[in-house]
Amino acid sequence: MPLNTKDLLKQMTIPEKIGQMMQLSPWFFVADLEKEAAGPIRDLKLDEAKIFSAGTALGIGDAREMIEVQKKYLAKNRLGIPLLFGADVIHGYRTIFPVPLALSCSWDPENARIAARVAALEAATAGVHMTYAPMADLVRDPRWGRVVESFGEDPYLLGLFAAASVAGFQGDDLAGEGTVASCVKHFAGYGAPEGGREYAAVDLSRQALEGGYLEGYRKAIEAGARGVMTAFNTIEGVPCTINRYLLRTILRDRWKFSGVTITDYDSLHEVLAHGAAEDERDAARLGVLAGLDIEMASTDYVNHLEKLVTDGVVDLSLIDEAVLRILDLKEELGLFADPFHNADPVKEQLTMLSEAHLALSKRVALESAVLLKNDRMALPLHPALRIALIGPYATSHETNGPWSWHGNNAKNESIAEVLRRRGIDLTIVKDGDSIASYDASDIEKLRQADVVLLLLGENAHQSGEAHSRADITLPGKQAELVGFVKSLHGTAVAVLQNGRPLVLENILEADAILETWFLGTKGAEAVCDLLYGIADPSGKLTMSFPRSVGQIPVHYDGLPTGRPNHHELHPREYVTKYIDELNSPRFPFGFGLSYAAFSYGAPVLSASAITPSESLAVTVELHNETARAGVETVQLYLRDKAARISRPVLELKAFRKIRLSAFETQTVRFELGLSDLSYRLPDGSVVWDPGVFTVSVGPDSAHLKAADFVLKR
Ligand code: NOJ
Repeated sequence: MPLNTKDLLKQMTIPEKIGQMMQLSPWFFVADLEKEAAGPIRDLKLDEAKIFSAGTALGIGDAREMIEVQKKYLAKNRLGIPLLFGADVIHGYRTIFPVPLALSCSWDPENARIAARVAALEAATAGVHMTYAPMADLVRDPRWGRVVESFGEDPYLLGLFAAASVAGFQGDDLAGEGTVASCVKHFAGYGAPEGGREYAAVDLSRQALEGGYLEGYRKAIEAGARGVMTAFNTIEGVPCTINRYLLRTILRDRWKFSGVTITDYDSLHEVLAHGAAEDERDAARLGVLAGLDIEMASTDYVNHLEKLVTDGVVDLSLIDEAVLRILDLKEELGLFADPFHNADPVKEQLTMLSEAHLALSKRVALESAVLLKNDRMALPLHPALRIALIGPYATSHETNGPWSWHGNNAKNESIAEVLRRRGIDLTIVKDGDSIASYDASDIEKLRQADVVLLLLGENAHQSGEAHSRADITLPGKQAELVGFVKSLHGTAVAVLQNGRPLVLENILEADAILETWFLGTKGAEAVCDLLYGIADPSGKLTMSFPRSVGQIPVHYDGLPTGRPNHHELHPREYVTKYIDELNSPRFPFGFGLSYAAFSYGAPVLSASAITPSESLAVTVELHNETARAGVETVQLYLRDKAARISRPVLELKAFRKIRLSAFETQTVRFELGLSDLSYRLPDGSVVWDPGVFTVSVGPDSAHLKAADFVLKR
């Protein structure tokens, strides 16, 4: 019998209602409140009554802890309204999958669904009800550390991955087994901080928002995400957490979002630091007026909303609205029927890191690495070759990457361990990052080796939240290792692990470069399978790799300029360019090599003109020129040549992942309709304009063959 949440609301006092709008760490519910009366309890101006009216908790260790916290909480909550446990389950719970940026490089949203599904199965048994994922922030600045949590620079791909994640987390029934509610974040525009500096202001036009930055959140909500987390930043000078345009006009009025909204950590209180509220009472007022339901970590609501209501400043109906949404979510999750729902210490043991989950994690990892360079077929390696291993990640187990707090790197193998286990003739020469420590015997070992594998990159703390970098070359002296190996006339294969596109100019002399990001629990095995050709690299970049920091932001879908640079290598004087750098990135969006090699025919269109009700078929011949089978992601881009507002030079509209056997040719077919030719105006409306469009097809955004067609009125 479903609970009537409206009836429950009627039984609640105002403080009980406001309590539902507060989120605390589980610690508060098990702490000895008398002993702990100082510290956070005093700073947050909390007392027992307030604490045991809280609606939600942030972060939980395991099922036992959740059950203990929920029991203690319910014993003191007058109406027995269960806590909802939220947590950051980003790319796996115990079984860690590739970081989201890597996942997106698989160009297969189904991989995001699988990763989220496995994460939900594990997290649910540990007592998690809602995950703060996916991060659907569009990103264009690799200095920003959180690009590692993103699905890249393209709005279309981002939307597909965000929607697939939501489907994976939530399944068909939130009250069923092994599902968690998904809270998409960080609404809105958090991925565009000024200078790539974490938490910095964001200045996006409404056209930029509608033209791409909102797309990921919109698609996640269309897929049914039950929560939305606000961003730390301002938009148009207004902190997102109290931004009525975002939270009311866009989210509720336009998108009809019926789920809960929640602040980011402390972000309601931080509106004071933004200079957008007089004091805590003012922050609470602005939050509730904006339609913000839950305050994470800070306590402005619980300490000020009641007085705001009794003073007649805030209408109780605003609070009722918010609380009803929270109660409805708890009901949808089945928490009133069973407050311990899904949390099960026995099942937890069986589910976590199960063979099936590990196998899925490896499968996705294999598709997420990107081969950036492979001169003279340095890769794949023959198993009989003598290998020397150097670099800071040669013996590292840290393949989980940022935001994997329940994962355990100690359970992961290192590349060295996998190679040893597989009987490769291997010498670990040095795992430091400087050539200064190399002596004559090290140099001899490098000379003796057929191939030197250099395990380079960033550690897990060099990307992620609050880890922006101004210099995005390889940290420390790692790059020197490549030149050193080459000076000994060795074959240098660089295997990178890192959380962002890097500037790789000073390691380009490596014979091969394999970008592996952070591939998760089975990362090392997946990398070794790729290096030895047991699996073929098939990932393609979803963020451009700049040649230098000065080019940032560099992304494939910029707007045209009045003075375009048609001759990148020999530009005219007064065109869009640098005098000391090219415009193009080092590795463009969509780029990635395979051990096979593919050639493309020109796109063939079914018509030279279509009406709005007709569709256009685009076909292209794809040929595998090698004796190896391989997978190619065929990409289709559009350009709207003349519209009522300037449109991007290229926009990804479709792609197909095709497996070709040796020397096989396939005809790849796409179909475009009016929705592909339409776009959003600054007010969010969808429009189209008649005229000429260019459709281009190819292996990445910089190597395309094009044809024009006309959209008639
Ligand atoms: C801050 C992060 O920005 C957000 O993504 C996360 O969900 C919260 N902290 C809670 O951990």
